[in-house]
Amino acid sequence: MTDFANVPAHSGHTAVAGILGWPVAHSQSPRLHAYWLAEHGIDGAYIPLPVMPDRLADAIKGLRAFGFRGANVTIPFKEAVIPLIDELTPVARQIGAVNTLVIDAEGRITGTNTDAPGFLENLRHGAPQWRADRPAAVLGSGGAARAVCAALLGAGVPEVRLFNRTLGKAEVLAAHFRPHFAAAIRPLPLIPKVWEGSLADVGVVVNTTSLGTTGQPAIDLDLGFIPTDAVVADIVYNPLRTPFLAAAEARGLATVDGLGMLLFQARAGFHHWFGKMPEVTDDLRAFVLRAMGA
Ligand code: ATR
Repeated sequence: MTDFANVPAHSGHTAVAGILGWPVAHSQSPRLHAYWLAEHGIDGAYIPLPVMPDRLADAIKGLRAFGFRGANVTIPFKEAVIPLIDELTPVARQIGAVNTLVIDAEGRITGTNTDAPGFLENLRHGAPQWRADRPAAVLGSGGAARAVCAALLGAGVPEVRLFNRTLGKAEVLAAHFRPHFAAAIRPLPLIPKVWEGSLADVGVVVNTTSLGTTGQPAIDLDLGFIPTDAVVADIVYNPLRTPFLAAAEARGLATVDGLGMLLFQARAGFHHWFGKMPEVTDDLRAFVLRAMGA
């Protein structure tokens, strides 16, 4: 006979949150929030909310109507959601993107961004020896790069050298950040000669491009110019050990993988919606990795 003793039962007061995106089937967030809900014995639910792009405004109204506590926002809505909500936190304004919505009892929606603190917590956790007293090198200029730049500048690095295939996009990002931070972002073209000549004093190198994701080409750059005491981080977590991290490890450099950023960025949302600050543990990591088939 099937044992239903461990099936979670929802009451009439279940706290509900979810993740808005298109598509969202690949997201690990429902699994990791389900883990924390079970761990804390909370009467809550966190569900995937696939929203066709032309229905985003209706979906936001729906969150209010159904009394959702909030939601995560992922591709392609992190910027599109901004005009549809009531308030932005300073960090969301700095980054120009929202990944977490918090809805109060009156239905007022505040948008924040937990990717930047999530990146920083993961970096500090994975490489406690890292200090923000040297310049940083960041690859890419998309939404993820914005969060990583905000995190690094907020932590106090003296300069971010921002490498991108499309230089204009790095320039736009640098201009957006200029009013918000004392230290500067220096946009640079992603070409070997410039890369090789810009790394001698960096303390951390971060990949925020999609290069190295399963099915995509790897980053084709020489890591021999990175100082031996620098940390190399990748925000790609599928695979966990990207070719970029593998090459860094082969050179003896300390590395930080991308799964931790996903786990750490989720803590603040869980806290807002469900009232407990959850922890990132080895057991949670193993649980998510199993779900990914890794
Ligand atoms: P996200 O929001 O996840 O950061 P994105 O906005 O699509 O995603 O940004 C992807 C980043 O990866 C961009 O910096 C992109 O470079 P371009 O601005 O030149 O498009 C970078 N990227 C993607 N494929 C790349 C490739 N084959 N070579 C170099 N950079 C690449």
